[in-house]
Parts: sequence; C-alpha cells; structure tokens
Amino acid sequence: MKELPADVLATKEDKRFATTEIVADYRAQRLACDTLLEIGCGVGMQTRSFAETCKKVIAVDTDKRKVIFARKNCKASNVDFHVGDGLKVLESTEADVVFCDPERPASEGQRKLSSLQPDPTKLLEMCEEKGAALAIELPPQIQQVSFPAELEYLDVGGKLNRLTAYTGRLARSSASVVALPSRYRIEGNKGEGKEGHVGEWLSELSPAVVKAGLVGQFGEGVSDGKAWYVTNKLQNPFVVNTYKVLGEAENVEEAVVLLKKHGFGKVLLRLRVKPEEYWRVRKQVEADLEGEKQAALLEIHQKLYVVSKV
Ligand SMILES: C[S@@+](CC[C@H](N)C(=O)[O-])C[C@H]1O[C@@H](n2cnc3c(N)ncnc32)[C@H](O)[C@@H]1O
Repeated sequence: MKELPADVLATKEDKRFATTEIVADYRAQRLACDTLLEIGCGVGMQTRSFAETCKKVIAVDTDKRKVIFARKNCKASNVDFHVGDGLKVLESTEADVVFCDPERPASEGQRKLSSLQPDPTKLLEMCEEKGAALAIELPPQIQQVSFPAELEYLDVGGKLNRLTAYTGRLARSSASVVALPSRYRIEGNKGEGKEGHVGEWLSELSPAVVKAGLVGQFGEGVSDGKAWYVTNKLQNPFVVNTYKVLGEAENVEEAVVLLKKHGFGKVLLRLRVKPEEYWRVRKQVEADLEGEKQAALLEIHQKLYVVSKV
C-alpha cells in the first residue's frame, strides 16, 4: 500500500489510485499556471499540490464521496471542487491548463487508451477547441499513444512509477524521463540503443529510461530481454545497479564452475526462464555452492555472465 501523509482521508481503494506527494509536487511545478482544471481529482492528492503552484484550481470528480474527502484533504482557498463530469465542466470553463488522471480498470491484459475514463482522445479534442493545454496521466505499460505528446516517464527511487503525456505547448520533446526526488531529467526522441559488447562493467539503467526509449543517450549497451545495461561503469541518477563482470559461460554447468571459483553461495538469476521454473533452476544452480556471498547470472546474447553487484 502506498504511503500517503497521515492526515489524508481516504479508503484503501482510494489510496491505491491516489497520486503520491513526491509525484504531485513535481507535476504541480511543471504545470504552474493561472487557472488549472483538474479532471478526476479523486481524494485530492494532486489538487493539494496544484493549490500551491496555480492561482486558481477547479477540481472535478464524478464520485460525490471522493469530492467530500478531497474537500477535507485540501482546504486551500484557491480551489473550487465540483461533483460531475469533467468534460461538461470543461465546456463552461476557461482554463490555461487541463490535467486529468483518468480512471482505469484495476487490471487488463494489455493497457489501452480506450479503457480510460474520461476518453483521452475526446478530452484532447475539447482542449484544443478551447485553447487549453492538456496533460494527462496514462498507464506506463501502454504500448501506443495515438496523439502527439511528450511522453514523460517518472522514475521514483529506481522504479518506473508514472507516465504523463504533455500535449500542445506543454510538450518540450517527444520523450523524457525524470528521476525523483532529484528531478534529474533527460529528453530526446524515442529510439533503439546502440548495441555494444560485454566488457568489465555493466551499468543497469532504470526501467523508466527503457520505457521512454532513451537508452541510446547513455552510449553502447546490451539487453537481457528485459533490462538494458550500459557496457561501462557509469555514475548517473538513472543507473539502478552496477555490476562487475567476473566471467562468461556457455551454459549453466560452466557458470557453476565460475561461481564456485569466486566463492559464491547464492545466485540471483536473470535468465530466460519461465517464472514458475525460477526456483527449480535456482536451486539446481546453488546445489553445489556454499556460503552467503551473492552473485547474479545474466543471459545476454545466448551467453551467461557471472556478475557481482558493486
Ligand atoms: C485515478 S483516480 C484519480 C486519483 C487522484 N489523482 C487522487 O490522487 O486521488 C481517477 C478518478 O477519475 C474520476 N472520473 C472518471 N471519469 C470522470 C469524468 N468523466 N469526470 C470527472 N471525473 C471522472 C473517478 O471517479 C476517479 O476518482
């Protein structure tokens, strides 16, 4: 369960979908303006931060109970709360910026724009007609966004946390990634990384950088199918793990010999094994090893690498 400030009034379910303070503060800074319309304010977590950076905030949600909670959670005098359909309120409001954190199904096979409420495409159309700039939160797993926007992926503490699409005059590039709390930012065009060769070091990049398609900005790298590793030792806020490469093996048996030689007893596997097979394979690898010293075994380009986290 997400940690919200102790004074926040919210049910367990509200907390699950609520915006965390660190994200809300960052976005409020980026969207500071005179009049901001927030559609889908929920229990008001993002609203509290907008109240600090915008002159006037109009916050709307279709759920009456949430708006009652939001009023208790945000007592700032520059915020007007409404119960109703945000699209209707938008028709009669002059806002500089519209922000929307839409409702999404709790789970779905593949995330898509059409499952979001209100409909992002309709919302963008209306904002364009009214001359308001739209920023909209989207599920970070979404594969394709059909309208032009800066897709900004947020990394919080090394993990992929949020995707916000900034449209029109709010967009600064086509893709970006920001690390919180440092607010270190990288921007550019989404693209493939340049393939390199495994050498002495591997620096694993944040999954937010991978999602943003900005791995190419870090120099040559390699992928194990999930993560992207820059092939040198890099000091950067987006490096989540640095590994020293201790040896290369053609198969698990050869890898075990290397692991024994270096005195490892535990091995984190990053091999292409099915999740249900993970512990069977791991026990097999660790069967002949002794001690608590831990290594990782990475599979890159059909080769296995014994690496140690530094
Ligand atoms: C993910 S939640 C927002 C959470 C919010 N950022 C918070 O911190 O509590 C999405 C919200 O959108 C609201 N919603 C869905 N369709 C809407 C619409 N057409 N107009 C206004 N609100 C809507 C839902 O009731 C829900 O509270």
